[in-house]
Amino acid sequence: MSTHKEIKRITTQTLQDFKENGEKISMLTAYDFSMAGIVDRAGIDVILVGDSASNVMAGHETTLPITLNEMIYHASAVVRAVSRALVVVDLPFGTYQGNSRLALESAIRIMKESGAHAVKMEGGGEIRESIERILTAGIPVMGHLGLTPQSIYKFGTYTVRAKEELEAQKLLEDAMLLEKIGCFSFVVEKIPAQLAEKVAKSVHIPVIGIGAGPGVDGQVLVLHDMLGINKEFRPRFVRRYLEMADLMDGAVKQYITDVKSMSFPSNKEMY
Ligand code: KIV
Repeated sequence: MSTHKEIKRITTQTLQDFKENGEKISMLTAYDFSMAGIVDRAGIDVILVGDSASNVMAGHETTLPITLNEMIYHASAVVRAVSRALVVVDLPFGTYQGNSRLALESAIRIMKESGAHAVKMEGGGEIRESIERILTAGIPVMGHLGLTPQSIYKFGTYTVRAKEELEAQKLLEDAMLLEKIGCFSFVVEKIPAQLAEKVAKSVHIPVIGIGAGPGVDGQVLVLHDMLGINKEFRPRFVRRYLEMADLMDGAVKQYITDVKSMSFPSNKEMY
């Protein structure tokens, strides 16, 4: 297994080197100190403080309600735990679209108040001005194309994007634009594997896929999905590495039994 534990800090340049050397990039989400510490010590390359926190941490139906203050709270906790991974934070819905000055202010708050290393933003040409303005402040930007959950009410469903030629062509153009204006990387979510591979080959910056097949430069999953914490959510692109909800259920039930039967605490578990 190659996790390059000897690398002290992953930077945007490290990711660029990985792409050039054909080494795949590993990326997972985390939203709190304890989980981020586990993920970082395991040797992950990038930790995304995703706005999926809105779903998995706060229980909202979509990513839209999460606020900038809430993202900063999660990001600060993650940054305190991490010593190796690059920490990227999602700019939440409503903090960058259509207003590049607000976008810069939002990105600066994330960088200053959380100590994160980069921000991620959903969209292509339509948010060009906001991306460019953030980049002028020296803040690294990761893009996000394909299924962009902040636009769920425009799409109507979470099904695969860019299956039609017109949308695929627009995605390819957006990918090249993100590279041209200076993004260090971008995510492609839920698009056909063939298109994702074509996109990754058309740009020099690393392309990270989620539900986009193996032909990209790295993979990202939501931690709660791959650990089986979310039992109900089982899309085909998620590989479950653990059935954590079942393990926790068993542990909690055992604890209840032990308390009721007075087998906990034992003589060794008291003062
Ligand atoms: O918010 C998130 O977790 C994301 C990933 C799905 C890429 O944006």
